[in-house]
Amino acid sequence: MKTVVIIGASGVVGSRVLAHLLDREEVGRVVALGRRLLDVQHAKLVSKVVDLQNATEMAGEIPDDVAVAICCIGTTRKQAGSKEAFRAIDRDAVVAFGRAGLQKGAQRFLVVSSIGANPRSKNFYLKTKGQAEEALAQLGYPQLTIVRPSFLDDRGARPEFRLGERIALPLARAIFFVVGKKRRYAPIAADVVGKALVRLAFDDATEPVRIVESDQLHAIGG
Ligand SMILES: NC(=O)c1ccc[n+]([C@@H]2O[C@H](COP(=O)([O-])OP(=O)(O)OC[C@H]3O[C@@H](n4cnc5c(N)ncnc54)[C@H](OP(=O)(O)O)[C@@H]3O)[C@@H](O)[C@H]2O)c1
Repeated sequence: MKTVVIIGASGVVGSRVLAHLLDREEVGRVVALGRRLLDVQHAKLVSKVVDLQNATEMAGEIPDDVAVAICCIGTTRKQAGSKEAFRAIDRDAVVAFGRAGLQKGAQRFLVVSSIGANPRSKNFYLKTKGQAEEALAQLGYPQLTIVRPSFLDDRGARPEFRLGERIALPLARAIFFVVGKKRRYAPIAADVVGKALVRLAFDDATEPVRIVESDQLHAIGG
């Protein structure tokens, strides 16, 4: 039985990852860290409040037998309030969690990044995501899996109103209905990402760094 630690389990993708993790027979325990307790109750689940900026504090809450660490956190510049506050979550907290998991002996780290992530991008969001990926790759996990979903098709799961997504999603759904919905830039359901990520967490990958693009996520989690 494996122990998994996760951050971001209250989010749109993270909650789907959590549900699929709890369904897996080989998962004996899931420890979810975050800024608030989860409202999910399950015999395998332990929810703990921690400071996600603090690797030492996170490591203190990660069990010694942890096998897999999964990162699903993320914010937006609007939600966070500034570029710095966005970077503090989407890059710094992600990497701090990476350090904490490695310190406790996790063998595999999986992170939800984004399509187009690139540390040299002129786009601030994609650059930050790319910087997080780059820093994680340098930590030296035996196996790091980076998943890069396209637009999340949350189907009303997100309580917050995001104007760009409300306009872009119906348009993207229509376009990809015509050109084929498994193309790389096609919107992807959070549940498909969650299912794919959990399958990837327990497959026999051995390459030190693997990047899984959105079209592959459709194939793995669809
Ligand atoms: N939306 C898209 O179309 C899209 C596309 C590609 C990639 N992505 C990426 O996919 C990942 C997951 O996205 P999502 O839509 O599932 O995100 P989400 O629903 O907004 O969930 C974000 C998670 O991060 C946590 N979080 C945010 N700010 C925090 C803070 N300051 N301190 C502690 N925890 C914080 C949230 O915790 P609380 O519940 O406590 O707020 C929640 O668990 C993100 O990295 C996102 O950038 C998104």
